[in-house]
Amino acid sequence: MVAASGISALSLWRKVLVLFPVWPPVLVAPRAPGPCSEWFDNAWLKSKGFSADVCCWRNHTDCWQDGYDYGICCSDYDTSHYQHGLQSLGHVLLAPELLAKAALPLGDSLRTFGGASSINGTALDGRLPPLVGLEGELAAPDYATPRDFFIAVAPAAALAAQRASEADSSHGSVSVLFIMTAPGNFARRQAIRQTWLQSLGWPGAERLRYAFVAGAPDATTRERIPGVAIELREEQEEFADLLVLPSLQDIYWGWEHTAKTFLALIAVLARVPDASHFACLHDDVYVHLPRLAELLDARRQFQVENSGNGGFPAGLYLGNAYLGHDFAGHSSTDGSDYEAMHGHRKMPPVMKGGLWVVDSQLARWVAAMLSGPAALLPWRLWPSDDDSVGLVFGELDILREHALRHGSEWFDWRLGDRCDGDRLVVAHDLKTPRELFEMWVRHLAFGNPCHGVEGAGLVRLTSRPEDFVFAEP
Ligand SMILES: *[C@@H]1O[C@H](CO)[C@@H](O)[C@H](O)[C@H]1NC(C)=O
Ligand SMILES: *[C@@H]1O[C@H](CO)[C@@H](O)[C@H](O)[C@H]1NC(C)=O
Repeated sequence: MVAASGISALSLWRKVLVLFPVWPPVLVAPRAPGPCSEWFDNAWLKSKGFSADVCCWRNHTDCWQDGYDYGICCSDYDTSHYQHGLQSLGHVLLAPELLAKAALPLGDSLRTFGGASSINGTALDGRLPPLVGLEGELAAPDYATPRDFFIAVAPAAALAAQRASEADSSHGSVSVLFIMTAPGNFARRQAIRQTWLQSLGWPGAERLRYAFVAGAPDATTRERIPGVAIELREEQEEFADLLVLPSLQDIYWGWEHTAKTFLALIAVLARVPDASHFACLHDDVYVHLPRLAELLDARRQFQVENSGNGGFPAGLYLGNAYLGHDFAGHSSTDGSDYEAMHGHRKMPPVMKGGLWVVDSQLARWVAAMLSGPAALLPWRLWPSDDDSVGLVFGELDILREHALRHGSEWFDWRLGDRCDGDRLVVAHDLKTPRELFEMWVRHLAFGNPCHGVEGAGLVRLTSRPEDFVFAEP
């Protein structure tokens, strides 16, 4: 999709950067903790039960933290320097139509899926209602138990399962990226659109489709951002790539976080029931998109070649495999509750958050379970989405592949991890738009998002407990 002129402009620009190495300024993570810095967002907001990144978007919250001014709070959100720099050097953003072409529809298109009814108006509908009367609204149900949630979404899950069963995913031609995001994370979504998601326009990424997926803003978010419904609606009108699922409140530290992940999976499955793979991403990763496209293409090719011979191994769960870890949970009783359920604290292999992939068979299994069985006896949903997903898949006879090594994670900087541009997920736990831009600029200019920040540490090849022994950075 990328124009040849775009490539030559880039290589020219690469030369410019080599000539003027002072631009862009080199800012090496980690930064000092501070309000709205990545460290602050992560540690402080999460400890208060908030999802990060409400600050500093169009000033609507005035930094919402008493005693901090905009300059202090928002400098990590200010990417104008990078944007102007990229512009002045001839870098052109993808035409919005090109991004829109890769985005999944918010509701149903007119295209029908066999005899299945429409997802419009169901728990899978990602469209926000018309602006009139929307102010301060969008309150999702307050379920007394997770089971009530499963009961509420079962009919929509049945619809997704029906579509998937009618579709032929063995020759599916696309893979879907669904990026989990919170309603208030405007700045992060925008930075992703302007950075690594731009490589959707690069050769090789033609078979990727994507969507951001959020739940409905919870009471805290609606209070902190009184205009959130209107802003979300405007965002949908502009980019048409953000599903806001109406049947679940977006709560970070709660069972809802895991519920949202499963709901998001069936929401994208219903839209592209013949996709071969579904990649779950978080909105705080820097993904090497061309490399991900390559990996998914190879998987799809393997599936096509092996379908029909009966021996095709179905059920793939691929990611950064945490092996041999004890379950920690979130609240003080989670660990003992887990032990009471399992007789031990060890977890099965869990693909850590940031990026994991399931194939169409596993996605269908989730839709089938959500269409009724989980409404009878629900899965235990722990607040950590990645742990819970791995636990739900724990007994399945599937392939668990450790393939998506992270180059660096927020806390791994402190473990001395090296930033390694050869990874699929180059960084995880990025908290501010500026960090994404820093990597993107390096990626464009030097072909390596870690250029100049490689660091002296090691790259962890595996994610077993012994790999996390603390080393001074
Ligand atoms: C946000 O507020 C700061 C300080 O009050 C101001 O300098 C800046 O221009 C504002 N930005 C927007 C987008 O309104
Ligand atoms: C769903 O809603 C969209 C508007 O968002 C409309 O264009 C489409 O026709 C509807 N689809 C069906 C199948 O009703």
